[in-house]
Amino acid sequence: MAVTFLILPLSVAAAGKGGKPDLSKLPLPVARPVDFTKEVYPLLKESCFKCHGAEKQKGKYRMDTREGAFKVTDDYGPAIKPAHSEESAVIHMVCGLIDEMLMPPPSDKPGQSEKLTAEQVGILRAWIDQGAVWPEGPIQEFVKPVTFEADMKPLFTSACGACHTGSAAKGSFAIDDAAAVIKGGANYPKVVVPGDPKKSSLLTIIAGKDEDLPAPEKHKLAPKQIELVEQWIRQGAK
Ligand code: HEC
Ligand code: HEC
Repeated sequence: MAVTFLILPLSVAAAGKGGKPDLSKLPLPVARPVDFTKEVYPLLKESCFKCHGAEKQKGKYRMDTREGAFKVTDDYGPAIKPAHSEESAVIHMVCGLIDEMLMPPPSDKPGQSEKLTAEQVGILRAWIDQGAVWPEGPIQEFVKPVTFEADMKPLFTSACGACHTGSAAKGSFAIDDAAAVIKGGANYPKVVVPGDPKKSSLLTIIAGKDEDLPAPEKHKLAPKQIELVEQWIRQGAK
């Protein structure tokens, strides 16, 4: 009988790129229907959006939108594979089954980056196994109302006010009230289409991407501010 020496590393839990994660280590899915809006989204918001949300997309992964969350990663397969939590990279990662890819990444500051509990992983797994239902569009419960008076006015006044107020407004585009902003200017009428960010040229302008404007860089806002203007438009530009 041939003697075979098997060299078994003591810890076989973690797999590197392309390696197979050890699925026996996964906490079981919870045995009940899971509500995406009440249970899953808040969990992801708390643990993941800080690095995978509107502001930062670490690893080029954005999780707070449906389009982003279901990304097929370059190295680890689909982030979320509906009906197959055991083949979903996010599940492998939150359980530390992939080398150097524990999510959220460990932090030495207490309370900063807590590892998900077995219960939380179970909720995520059950949601994925139950079809990973993620409703179209923004999740209403988590959208804070954005209004002209409270949000847009201070923003436009400080960023645009020097050149765009009253009768001396450049290009006859004034930021004095919501109606004036929606109306647009002499060459750019209707820069805002309430409810329809895609048709609102104001977003191209404040992204600094309209090369026809003089000084496009004077028109460029920060990503967070652009997001806010986009939300204002999406919510009806009131
Ligand atoms: C403190 C920041 C931080 C938090 C919080 C965080 N991540 Fe990450 N995440 C990263 C970084 C950094 C990378 C890129 C790592 C790399 O490629 O080496 C990454 C990469 C990923 C990837 C791979 C994306 C790809 O296409 O390769 C997935 C999936 C992921 N994270 C899921 C999550 C999930 C799920 C959560 C919440 C449970 C989470 N992350 C929380 C920082 C974070
Ligand atoms: C330093 C001055 C300056 C600042 C600051 C500035 N703009 Fe302008 N803007 C201009 C000038 C100059 C024009 C061109 C006007 C013309 O064509 O006569 C213009 C044109 C525009 C137009 C097109 C108007 C039209 O129909 O011709 C829009 C819309 C606009 N700006 C929006 C903004 C917004 C929003 C901000 C703030 C994020 C902003 N601008 C900040 C100087 C400025």
